[in-house]
Amino acid sequence: MKITINNNEDINKMRIVCKKASQILEMIEYYIKPGITTEKIDYLCHNFIVNKTKSISACLGYQGFLKSICTSVNNVVCHGIPNNKKLKEGDIVNIDVTLYKNGFYGDTSKMFLIGNKYKKKIKKLCKETLKSLYISIKIIKPGIRLGLIGKTIQKYAEKKGFSVVRDYCGHGIGKNFHEDPIILHYEDYDNGIILKQGMIFTIEPMLNIGKFETYLDKDGWSVKTIDKKFSAQYEHTVLVTKNSYEILTLRKNENIDYIKI
Ligand code: MF3
Ligand code: CO
Ligand code: CO
Repeated sequence: MKITINNNEDINKMRIVCKKASQILEMIEYYIKPGITTEKIDYLCHNFIVNKTKSISACLGYQGFLKSICTSVNNVVCHGIPNNKKLKEGDIVNIDVTLYKNGFYGDTSKMFLIGNKYKKKIKKLCKETLKSLYISIKIIKPGIRLGLIGKTIQKYAEKKGFSVVRDYCGHGIGKNFHEDPIILHYEDYDNGIILKQGMIFTIEPMLNIGKFETYLDKDGWSVKTIDKKFSAQYEHTVLVTKNSYEILTLRKNENIDYIKI
C-alpha cells in the first residue's frame, strides 16, 4: 500500500480541480425540478464541464461508462446511469461528479430532493447521510487512525436508524481517480494506517433506510439496495492539513460549523 503525500504544488492543483467539481453541483441545483430527466442533467453538466470549467469528466469513458456524471435515483445506491426517465415529486437523486484537470482528479457528490413533498424518513435519510460525512470529516487530523473515519460514520448512522453500505468505499485521489488508501464507511479490522499531512482522499458514505446489502443491476453499473428501499450518499474530497483538514470540494453555500463533535 503506497499512500501519496501531496506537496504544495500538487495540493494547489487539487484545490483547482476540486473547486471546479463542486461548481458543477452548485450550477445544476437550479435545474433539478420535477419533469427533468437524468439524461438532461447529464447534458447540462457535460456542457458546463467542457465549456465553463475547461475540464474533462473522469466518468465519461471510464471502464465503458458512457455518461459524464452518475445519477443515482431512490433505491440506486451509486453509479446510476443517466437515462430518459423523468424525475418526479418525492424522488431523491445523487449526482456524482469527477473532474480531471492539469493531471489531477476531484470527486464530489450530493443529494437533490425533487419537489417539496417527501416522506419524513426520506428527508431524514438525506440529512443524516450528510451529517455522517461531516462528523467524519471533523475528526480528521494527522496522527489519528484512518479506521476512525468508518467507525465514526457507522456509529452515527446506526444511532439514527440507518444502515451503512459495505460494498463500496471512499478512496485516495490525486494523479489517479482511485488510489490507496481505501476508505471504509464502517468499522473493520484495524489496518494500522495513520493519517499524515498531505494525504488526500474521498469520504462518500452511502446510508440505507433498510438493509445494507446491495446488488449490481443488469445494466452493469447501477448498484441497488437489495430490499428496494431508498439510499443516500454525499461525497467530499478532503486534504489532511497540519492540524486538521481542508474540504477541497466545499460548495459556496456549504457550512459545516453547525456540526459539534
Ligand atoms: N465518482 C465515483 C466515485 O465516487 C465513481 C464513478 S465511476 C463511473 O468513486 F464510471 F461510474 F462514473
Ligand atoms: Co469517489
Ligand atoms: Co464520486
